[in-house]
Amino acid sequence: MAVPSLTEKSTPPAAAAGADDPPILDVRGLWKVFGPRADRVVGTPLAQLSRAELKHRTGCVAAVRDVSFSVRRGEVFVVMGLSGSGKSTLVRCLTRLVEPTAGEVRLDGEDVLACGERRLRELRRHRFGMVFQHFGLLPHRRVLDNVAYGLEIRGTKKDGRYERAREVLELVGLAGFEGSYPDQLSGGMQQRVGLARALAVDPEVLFFDEPFSALDPLIRREMQNEVIRLHREVGKTMIFITHDLSEALKLGDRILIMRDGALVQMGTPDQVVGAPADDYVRDFVSDVPRSDVLTLSWVMRDARPGEPLDGPELAPDTVIRDAARTVLSAGRPVKVVSGGALLGVVTTAEILEVIAGPDPGNPDSPGGESR
Ligand SMILES: Nc1ncnc2c1ncn2[C@@H]1O[C@H](COP(=O)(O)OP(=O)(O)OP(=O)(O)O)[C@@H](O)[C@H]1O
Ligand SMILES: [Mg+2]
Repeated sequence: MAVPSLTEKSTPPAAAAGADDPPILDVRGLWKVFGPRADRVVGTPLAQLSRAELKHRTGCVAAVRDVSFSVRRGEVFVVMGLSGSGKSTLVRCLTRLVEPTAGEVRLDGEDVLACGERRLRELRRHRFGMVFQHFGLLPHRRVLDNVAYGLEIRGTKKDGRYERAREVLELVGLAGFEGSYPDQLSGGMQQRVGLARALAVDPEVLFFDEPFSALDPLIRREMQNEVIRLHREVGKTMIFITHDLSEALKLGDRILIMRDGALVQMGTPDQVVGAPADDYVRDFVSDVPRSDVLTLSWVMRDARPGEPLDGPELAPDTVIRDAARTVLSAGRPVKVVSGGALLGVVTTAEILEVIAGPDPGNPDSPGGESR
């Protein structure tokens, strides 16, 4: 199999579902309240209180507050927010590692919250894979046995599980380390073992809870590229928690941003950067180079009367940074075209405005706040 470039943003593989296909995961009105009489909060006026007020009045913490979203098959879905915003609790509720207080979670239409112990174990063993920040490897087991572990508890025979473990170790670039013990490997390598272990059972949905935050920046970037490559090769649905915006933008097809347990914004990277829902999100994205994330559809404008329309053509989803050279050297408007239709034009002025920042005197400028 050809190994794709490691530096490009992940695009959903061919298997990725369209917006209209049924979601693989559907979450409605999900709550998790920790504390005394936690089950007496949802559905009462207490549920309207802010997290701080609820804590003050009842001693309960609303870790997740009425969150709804769905994840498409093959999508990389990122959950981000500050520490304590409820990311881990939200994601743990999806597999019931944490028992939700209220709401609905459906996997391929199946009501996960209604599953009995046995069915739940089946789902965890066969359909979910998890990768955590602290790799959680078994120290006294060789790499090969760590990777084969999920298959072992599933009852796969030795030959079969070793064969599969070798296959995924090769996939994550660790062929040759089968016989090593975890403490003989670097942090990055241990996390690759964690990845291999999750992939070995061929899960439909992979959950990552800040898997790379313990790694130093270079290794971290390498691991992010590894996830992008694996996503292309194996096409799994991935739910990825991070509090690092650049990681979220790099990996995510869509990003859900949480604050104090609630969903503040959900959208594609360019939507989050181009149209932050509030000051919290605006703060998060304020340092992001907009030209690296926004596409031509954010800056194109209607052609003016008399403007020449014989310039080069680009697609509306071209990232501005990638379009800059063409636009700056065209000497005339570049046409933004989709399916043969002219959607608008882009000139040097629009590109520079994004790269140099919005014109503070002109709120309607392409990079301005009014978008
Ligand atoms: N078992 C628990 N009992 C009581 N409160 C909890 C429990 N687990 C989490 N919380 C609280 O719920 C809130 C959300 O915690 P959570 O771990 O989900 O946040 P997070 O966004 O994952 O944070 P971090 O980035 O630090 O991992 C926090 O206020 C936390 O104190
Ligand atoms: Mg967490």
